Amino acid sequence: SWTTGNVIEEQVAAIREQVGTKRAICGLSGGVDSAVAAALVQKAIGSQLTCVYVDHGLMRKGETEQVEKDFVAATGVQLKVVDAEERFLKALAGVSDPEEKRKIIGREFIRVFEQAQAEIIADAGPEVAFLVQGTLYPDVVESGGGTGTANIKSHHNVGGLPEDLEFQLIEPLRKLFKDEVRMVGQELGLPDEIVQRQPFPGPGLGIRIVGEVTKERLDLLREADAIAREELTAVGLDRDIWQCPVVLLADVRSVGVQGDGRTYGHPIVLRPVSSEDAMTADWSRLPYDVLAKISTRITNEVADVNRVVLDVTSKPPGTIEWE
Ligand code: XMP
Repeated sequence: SWTTGNVIEEQVAAIREQVGTKRAICGLSGGVDSAVAAALVQKAIGSQLTCVYVDHGLMRKGETEQVEKDFVAATGVQLKVVDAEERFLKALAGVSDPEEKRKIIGREFIRVFEQAQAEIIADAGPEVAFLVQGTLYPDVVESGGGTGTANIKSHHNVGGLPEDLEFQLIEPLRKLFKDEVRMVGQELGLPDEIVQRQPFPGPGLGIRIVGEVTKERLDLLREADAIAREELTAVGLDRDIWQCPVVLLADVRSVGVQGDGRTYGHPIVLRPVSSEDAMTADWSRLPYDVLAKISTRITNEVADVNRVVLDVTSKPPGTIEWE
């Protein structure tokens, strides 16, 4: 019978046998899948595993700390953190086109990850033979089944890796669905903030700033996003909705008034959606009082934002993300 306990036991035994005395590397993205995959492999082979987390500076407030502190505390994993914020910001300077941003972020990510990988191998020797991936059952079906999913945006998973690998893959979640992965993660003692995390795109906040990505704009968006998440969590709505992108329209300004002064600031868009699989989605009918609270807090607490708007478009015709 299917229990999380059985799944864990089975996978731990299989991973031990597969890896033997060799070593493995796992990229952490901050998301559920890579975290649970890493925790399982850690349980199986302990210090033979090294995790890599590339901080591209495009994460939401507190997420990097969650990986660095909470995930490490829960698992005891060996973690190599690469602070690549400056590198990503430099590469993104002057770029507003969404596809261009995605390409740059994907390219830089692979370069940084490969370098970290090379450093680990230089330290540990050629016995690093395995790479852990958080591939889920639906991913397996999708890529093998040839369902011909339209690729509208160049999707890039931060867990996703270069193709010229001489590594063997460890994919301990290959038979699991998302809800099962969350259960396994919980059983492995991972914090709720990681296990229950909603989908978040690999390119991060880089594709939630309409316009050029700068440090100032990222910081501003991080504040607004943190407020929205906090309020949705406070009323328990984060579990009901699929996700709620918070978007900064950095190239738009509108006139406002605050105190007795005129302002000329940016709008923040709230994009709460309900969905089963992200292929289609409907905008979530959030209670007005929750929206009001989020709006009041964002305009009061986030400098340079004087308007909060709600996206009431389904998918199709809109996509979930704005870029
Ligand atoms: P769209 O905007 O295409 O998003 O309706 C569908 C789902 O995919 C997520 N998303 C991404 N996830 N890398 C990812 O790992 C990406 O480049 C990416 N772009 C969008 C989005 O958050 C939504 O859940």
